Amino acid sequence: MAVLSSENRSGVLILWIDNPPVNALSQAVRSALLNAISKECDEGNNTAIIIACRGRTFIAGADIREFGKPPAEPYLPDVIAAIESASKPVIAAIHGHALGGGLEVALGCHYRIAAAGSQLGLPETNLGIVPGAGGTQRLPRLIGAVDAAEMICGGKPVSAEKALELGLVDKLTDDDVVSTAISYSLNVTKETLGYRRLSERKVSVDDILFSNFDKIEKKIQKQAKGATAPLEAFSLIRKTIDMPFTEGKNLERETFLKLAGTTEAKALRHIFFAERGVGRAPSNSNPRKLNKIGVVGAGTMGVGIAMTFADAGYPVSLTDISEEALGRGKFRLRSLYESQVKRGRISERDRESRTQLIQFSVGYDVLADADLIIEAAFEATDVKCSVFKKLDGVAKRGAVLATNTSYLDINVIAEATSRPQDVLGLHYFSPANVMKLVEVVRGQATSPDTLSTALTAAKVTGKIAVIAGVCHGFIGNRMLRAYVRESGLMMLEGALPSEVDRALTDFGMSMGPFSVADLAGLDIGYKARQEMQAGSFEPMATAVHDRLVEKGHLGQKSGAGFYRYNDKTRANSPHPIVEDLIAMVRKEAGVKTRLISSEEIVSRTMLALINEGCWILEEKISERMSDIDVVYVHGYGFPRWRGGPMCYGESIGWAKVLKQIQKHVNGPYGRWWNPSQYIKKLANDH
Ligand code: 3HC
Repeated sequence: MAVLSSENRSGVLILWIDNPPVNALSQAVRSALLNAISKECDEGNNTAIIIACRGRTFIAGADIREFGKPPAEPYLPDVIAAIESASKPVIAAIHGHALGGGLEVALGCHYRIAAAGSQLGLPETNLGIVPGAGGTQRLPRLIGAVDAAEMICGGKPVSAEKALELGLVDKLTDDDVVSTAISYSLNVTKETLGYRRLSERKVSVDDILFSNFDKIEKKIQKQAKGATAPLEAFSLIRKTIDMPFTEGKNLERETFLKLAGTTEAKALRHIFFAERGVGRAPSNSNPRKLNKIGVVGAGTMGVGIAMTFADAGYPVSLTDISEEALGRGKFRLRSLYESQVKRGRISERDRESRTQLIQFSVGYDVLADADLIIEAAFEATDVKCSVFKKLDGVAKRGAVLATNTSYLDINVIAEATSRPQDVLGLHYFSPANVMKLVEVVRGQATSPDTLSTALTAAKVTGKIAVIAGVCHGFIGNRMLRAYVRESGLMMLEGALPSEVDRALTDFGMSMGPFSVADLAGLDIGYKARQEMQAGSFEPMATAVHDRLVEKGHLGQKSGAGFYRYNDKTRANSPHPIVEDLIAMVRKEAGVKTRLISSEEIVSRTMLALINEGCWILEEKISERMSDIDVVYVHGYGFPRWRGGPMCYGESIGWAKVLKQIQKHVNGPYGRWWNPSQYIKKLANDH
């Protein structure tokens, strides 16, 4: 199928790009576009050229699938140069998204018309690169260096409305964008083309003289959280700000090509495609209709889950066992929506309509017409089984019954009903209305239609759903156990909690394991361990955690855990008794302490994650390595620019990873380091 077609309308040539799904600039598109522009300029008699796209969007960028392969001619900068130097006006008619190379094409055009609701941006830094086809040079010349730096280094697209304000587009329309572009073209003349060629302009002198670039750089550094591409982009803009266009463009291309091959860029491409590969419904399945949602439990999770569905426009019945519990839930709901209004995230009207969608009631009868019921009751198997028994009595036939357990055996819970085929796990992460990740846990008996309905529910509420099998903790929390174990053991062997946390935040984790434990509440893990079988976890790793709980240090909620917390600011500082307690536990265990380096902290925790991840793959709890990476990036604050723990393992090299794991097998806690056949095979094959 042709990726480009042309149409003549009112003496204007419309070049229609048609490369589904997102009109990416593949080699075929670049080549067709270059030929069509050259042909019209050489032989055509139209007055103007419009570049428009078929389908749901304007050009969403270079074809990411071509990255990592040898570049193929014609190169995008040359195509854009041909557009810009065209002898007749070229107008970009933008709808949907104009991203990356797509926006660079539009910047090469002489005029830009955007449909209301479209989005424009240069998200390359999200892929570990800088714009490679003139974006860092043309955008500052059009909208100024400061706004351009924000768009390029932040990687976030702006709305068409904002783009108009910035001067990025010339006109915004609610009508058909191509018809508007045709009318617009009738009023533009060839005479102004020189001025409209951004490569012939200079960056505003005010920008160069008066912008506080050091301050901007600091802000970018903070937002980048360890990723290098945003800073590379900034330094490129700064360096080239008063260079002639061609010199700046060459430096941009050089930086783009250098970054495209880095581990960071590979990792970011990996996670981009991993996110799009998760949560695919089984081929033989049909999702059931979702009109009404039921939620059992008006605690933190229940309210968050109810909000998730109300935010997407679904009516929700939220039940609990008493008016008192519901009262607390209503209060929580009101405060959460209130704070969203205060922060400008939603309007007063949204708050009203969303609140009204959630009906609070005592008892299960209101759940009789729900299509999906999610239980978010207390985390204990007997409690959950008794809830499911009741749900079995009231839910309509075909309703999907989901449990929001973080650890428990879904097969046991399903067996409490007469319809295990309709039961599965929907493991939301806290706060459920904010966190994007949900683990969709299929039980032994879960039917493909049930699974498919749950995946649809996740999709319509904007979640990223990763399918997992049943085991203690599924994908994320099972791996976390290994990570927490090694953190705890290193504390015992000589590292302070703050040293472990710092090494891991320096690595890029959004929080260290001891800060996370304090945030989650140390009593949660304590109770969970009490339900676990002896031998299934390493008690020495959490001996200090247990002592802290026994001393009333429950974490942030009690003002102290591994750290002490300021009431107002929540800032943490070391707690004097914690070090004493650690010393006491070390002494009791007869541990001779040693210096533990940051490298060891990172290496041991990462290897523990990777090893457990491979067991999860071996046991088919997860189908793909990339699914595990999505869980860690979206649920556990793993640095996106490292691609997830499995991608990180791959970047080290599997043979090396296995060798390092085997070293730990011979260590004092070697029984936890048994390598799976899966990792052995990886090491053998790579
Ligand atoms: N290249 C190749 N494939 C792409 C792509 C791209 N630039 N953008 C999206 N796709 C693919 C996706 O992988 C997915 O494929 P699948 O159906 O096989 O899984 C399909 O298109 C649909 O994508 P989404 O599921 O993401 O669709 P949405 O409608 O949710 O989102 C979008 C659309 C906002 C355009 C989103 O896809 C997106 O953000 N794409 C990436 C944009 C981007 O990063 N562009 C910059 C590329 S780098 C560049 O241009 C370098 C230049 O400076 C030289």
